Amino acid sequence: MCGIVGYIGHRQADELIIKGLERLEYRGYDSAGIAIINNGLAIFKKAGKVKALRKMIKTSDTSGTLGIGHTRWATHGEPNDKNAHPHMGNNGRLALVHNGIIENYAVLKSALMAEGHTFSSDTDTEVLVHLIEEIQKEGNLALEEAVRLALNRVEGAYAIAVVDRNNPGILVGARKQSPLLVGIGDNEFFIGSDASPFLDSTKRVVYLEDGQVACISLEKGLQLRNTANEEQPPFIQTLDLQIEALEKEGYEHFMLKEIYEQPKTILDAMRGRISSKESRVTLRGLEEYANRFVRANRIIIVACGTSYHSGLIGEYLIEDLARIPVEVEYASEFRYRNPILSERDIVIAISQSGETADTMAALELAKQKGAMIYGIVNSVGSSIARLTDAGSYIHAGPEIGVASTKAFTGQVTVLTLLALSLARKLSTISNTYFQTLVRELELIPSKVEEILKENDHIKYIAKEVKDHHNALYLGRGYNFPVALEGALKLKEISYVHAEGYPAAEMKHGPIALIDENMPVYVTATNKSAYDKIVSNVQEVVARKGRVIAIVNKGEKLIAKIADHVIEIPSTEEPLTPLLSVIPLQLLSYHIAVELGRNVDQPRNLAKSVTVE
Ligand code: AGP
Repeated sequence: MCGIVGYIGHRQADELIIKGLERLEYRGYDSAGIAIINNGLAIFKKAGKVKALRKMIKTSDTSGTLGIGHTRWATHGEPNDKNAHPHMGNNGRLALVHNGIIENYAVLKSALMAEGHTFSSDTDTEVLVHLIEEIQKEGNLALEEAVRLALNRVEGAYAIAVVDRNNPGILVGARKQSPLLVGIGDNEFFIGSDASPFLDSTKRVVYLEDGQVACISLEKGLQLRNTANEEQPPFIQTLDLQIEALEKEGYEHFMLKEIYEQPKTILDAMRGRISSKESRVTLRGLEEYANRFVRANRIIIVACGTSYHSGLIGEYLIEDLARIPVEVEYASEFRYRNPILSERDIVIAISQSGETADTMAALELAKQKGAMIYGIVNSVGSSIARLTDAGSYIHAGPEIGVASTKAFTGQVTVLTLLALSLARKLSTISNTYFQTLVRELELIPSKVEEILKENDHIKYIAKEVKDHHNALYLGRGYNFPVALEGALKLKEISYVHAEGYPAAEMKHGPIALIDENMPVYVTATNKSAYDKIVSNVQEVVARKGRVIAIVNKGEKLIAKIADHVIEIPSTEEPLTPLLSVIPLQLLSYHIAVELGRNVDQPRNLAKSVTVE
């Protein structure tokens, strides 16, 4: 996700800010920029890495003791020079950097255009700086007051830093649902998305709270106000942290950090797209092609690896709820088997990186054959995102760990929204059931939080089973693709051979593998096939297999006979994968750690397979 750095003090700001941006590179980004106040306002910004920005400013005058900087992870608008931050208003006074998503930017933008504002980027961020400028101009207001009033009109998540050419002694910051800190040094202040940009200058920090606006000047120091304009005393803490720990925000590995980010990333995948109050699900990309979807002969999902597994869940969701035929194909097979396709088909590509060669090639083939192509992608502006006719970003932020976790649940969330939206358009489910699913989907982030509290128990189980050289994963219905995903997670980070199977398939072969050396992970959280999966567990136990069962809280039958049980909150059946996958992610993580594996960069694997 994006990184923010700000500085006001007695030293030159440029090098402090650029170094701060380099400290934030671990967050993943695709462009960078800096704004310096020095009699005027100088902005330098560029697609690419911070070193490209360094090269750009080498021969420029970047002197000044007040400035802001940004590394951008694109959410709205491609990663290019014009969409890079900082953004300026029309009067050239203000510069602003932002981390987050402004959900109502389109409404605000059209109102500002009606006031004569012209825009130079495709970003939601630029709307905010124009809004602040408009409010400041109307009331000739102080910067911090104009920022506060503007933020009262914004819906969504933000962390921002703003400077004003006409107020060279003021640095303003604010946050809501995206982190922002103020670093307090000797006669100097910093702003950062975390403390890594300024940790070697000061360890005294104030974590801004949601809704707070920070006004920083050397004369008055740090002043905090909430959106109701009430002054709030800053709570200063002294950090006891080293730089490297910060990049993982205290987690041992990026993978664990990303597993724990899922309550937020699932929420971000839904942000602005769902409302139980209005009984509404809206995917903008789908809306543009709604007719093609509702009249489609079938939907074909092409993907690889974990994205293929989320595609399988998409098949269950769309057929179960929207009654549109769906096929899911490995992109690498689809691209070479001369598939039959027509204009009445829709091909959906699912890809975290948006750069997977096989998936890209499958899409190009679909496009040639006249199908409509849709993308469910994490990386904004990636090759797949640019190739498709339309799509939905999952907004999971950069996924650093090679093993995909938060991207998987982000993909499943968007597929759930797609299935619900189509079901609503086609009236294939009752309004009551639609509302039940929407309400339950809004509760998923808090239920994931609850499951993450089982981490210590799951870590204990991992220690108990880590020495086995094989594993079987079983599930039925919506949990069958979860079994496949659990097996892939274990394989790719612990190098233990694992297979996922539909639970009922056991008797057609795999049951011959069962003995006391075979751990069997059974995901038994769906009510519809409960009796049958109890029988499957009994078959395994009868042959001395070691059962690790994931069950709904309070389940009794399986809990009595399994070797280990992980209880999770229940939910509506179509939503079970968003919960049942979490214990499997944690199990694979802890087993790999116990085995001393390189969890974030497992052997032989790349984060994005851009070659065949
Ligand atoms: C998943 O943990 C793996 N890293 C891998 O299977 C991955 O899902 C696959 O390479 C597809 O990548 P994509 O989603 O970026 O297209």
